[in-house]
Amino acid sequence: MYNAYFGFRENPFNLSPDPAFLYRSPHHEEALANLIYGVQSRKGFIVLTGEVGTGKTTMLECLRDFLEAQGIEFAFIFNSRITPDQFFEMVAYDLDLRCTRTSKTDVLFALNQLLIQQANQGRTTVLIVDEAHNLDADVLEEIRLLGNLENPRIGKLMQIILSGQPELDYKLDSPGLRQLKQRVVLRCGLEPLTPAETKEYILSRLAKAGLEEQTVFPDSLLDEVHVRSQGIPRLINALCDNLLLTVFATEGREATLPMLDEICKDMRLDWPGHRPRAGRNFADTLESTLKQPS
Ligand SMILES: Nc1ncnc2c1ncn2[C@@H]1O[C@H](COP(=O)(O)OP(=O)(O)O)[C@@H](O)[C@H]1O
Ligand SMILES: [Mg+2]
Repeated sequence: MYNAYFGFRENPFNLSPDPAFLYRSPHHEEALANLIYGVQSRKGFIVLTGEVGTGKTTMLECLRDFLEAQGIEFAFIFNSRITPDQFFEMVAYDLDLRCTRTSKTDVLFALNQLLIQQANQGRTTVLIVDEAHNLDADVLEEIRLLGNLENPRIGKLMQIILSGQPELDYKLDSPGLRQLKQRVVLRCGLEPLTPAETKEYILSRLAKAGLEEQTVFPDSLLDEVHVRSQGIPRLINALCDNLLLTVFATEGREATLPMLDEICKDMRLDWPGHRPRAGRNFADTLESTLKQPS
């Protein structure tokens, strides 16, 4: 909407996880390196965790690009509220297995053939499951069994990446899943961005969208965006997108603190040290009431 006004080639703060806009924070860099290393060295199970909006799906999309470039077969399951039957159907669909996709036995047979055929050509096969914290125990058990497929000469035939919110770690800690937990050989975690990274992140997105020398966000406002977003990329995007929209709507040139205040209020955003107005009034009233001598 505001692209032409600011001279952007495309929207800098799009909410879709687009590898073209990748900002390589040390955590993101390390996570991606781990995912690629895990796949290449046939490590078996890899777990990626991070809070909502920290960039997990973006990392998986980058991995997808890598796998496509390398010609490595993969299945990408992004809907994790599924039954075991649906799981096998999705795997068969993604890997284009020639079988009755609704029969688990058929899928397993065709999958095994594909894995061996790929392994014979020196290639591995990858299963990526996003939002894996939502997976039911019975689907996780099927995934564990797939991870067992092994060739003594080559190693694991299928590399499995489970990505999800920190609840995934707790889930794997449950007694029923300890067999799966023991098989996880690589773990990586994404953390929110630091204040300096938040700035770099915003500037890198603006530059990639076509604005190398930005003057819309004053430095002090970038600090404030960090505080309010807590360094979570999805929130940074939402705040910056709304700021640009407000500047455009008011035909201004620069984003300001009052604009950010208004946006945070509309988004009902809360951050450490911030007390919503209604809450503060109530708390203050309560505090002063309690302090009053009776
Ligand atoms: N390293 C990064 N570089 C560029 N954009 C990122 C990065 N990490 C997250 N984002 C952006 O933040 C938003 C949320 O990222 P996403 O990968 O969907 O998070 P998650 O899957 O952890 O909830 C998306 O708009 C994505 O483009
Ligand atoms: Mg995600």
